[in-house]
Amino acid sequence: MSATNDMLNIKGVDSFYGASRALFGVSFDVHRGDSVALLGRNGAGKSTTLKSIMGLADVRNGIIQVSGHPARGCRPEHIARLGVAYVPEDRQVFRRQSVEANLTLGMKAGADGVREWTLERVYSVFPMLWDARRKGAGTLSGGQQQMLVIARALLGNPLIMLLDEPSQGLSPLVMDQLQLLLQQLRQAGMTLVLAEQNTRFCMGVASRAVVINQGSVVFDDDIAAFNADEALRHRYLAA
Ligand SMILES: Nc1ncnc2c1ncn2[C@@H]1O[C@H](COP(=O)(O)OP(=O)(O)OP(=O)(O)O)[C@@H](O)[C@H]1O
Ligand SMILES: [Mg+2]
Repeated sequence: MSATNDMLNIKGVDSFYGASRALFGVSFDVHRGDSVALLGRNGAGKSTTLKSIMGLADVRNGIIQVSGHPARGCRPEHIARLGVAYVPEDRQVFRRQSVEANLTLGMKAGADGVREWTLERVYSVFPMLWDARRKGAGTLSGGQQQMLVIARALLGNPLIMLLDEPSQGLSPLVMDQLQLLLQQLRQAGMTLVLAEQNTRFCMGVASRAVVINQGSVVFDDDIAAFNADEALRHRYLAA
């Protein structure tokens, strides 16, 4: 891999759904070990930004680089091989397969050849997946399924993880557990980008906020500074 400290460079990205434009020159950078919250209200363009990085959106202008490699217009499999794990909001598990089979399917060496994440390590970080390892993935609760898809993504030994609304639909208790887990991942050096509507959930996980409004980045700085500014929050997030 290149020695660059840049995990992700996004510059002037315009993305479309047919004739309708969703992103207007989105630019931001993510460095190795950064944890970035992508905030914004309903329909702001958070998911489209993650899809644009993953090669799942119609990106018509701009530059996308993953660890210094050109990534715009590449297929999702190629982006994944560059070390990007994407956890979409719909938590796709193989419902009829066991939890362990779901995990095993995700196992591969990372873009840098390392296998830091093994089944053993995943089970030590997610004890509830060890307890449920023989159960059908479809029998798990929403929170457990969210843990499962994150664990499966980790087994691909990614350099960076893109998580779309990981806290969505979780009970407060499970949300706290997930928050703690993401904090652990961050402390272990994982680079994270989480698209979220829930700023409170991001506090303690992310150090930076990139706020999107109507398809444009309107704030890119310390998340604590954003959270402390009531006028900004009111302007760019759901009331
Ligand atoms: N499949 C699609 N076809 C057409 N327009 C779409 C499609 N998906 C999203 N859009 C539009 O693109 C814009 C950005 O949507 P996006 O899903 O990226 O927002 P978001 O910030 O993720 O919102 P949410 O918080 O609701 O998930 C919105 O105007 C939305 O209506
Ligand atoms: Mg979304």
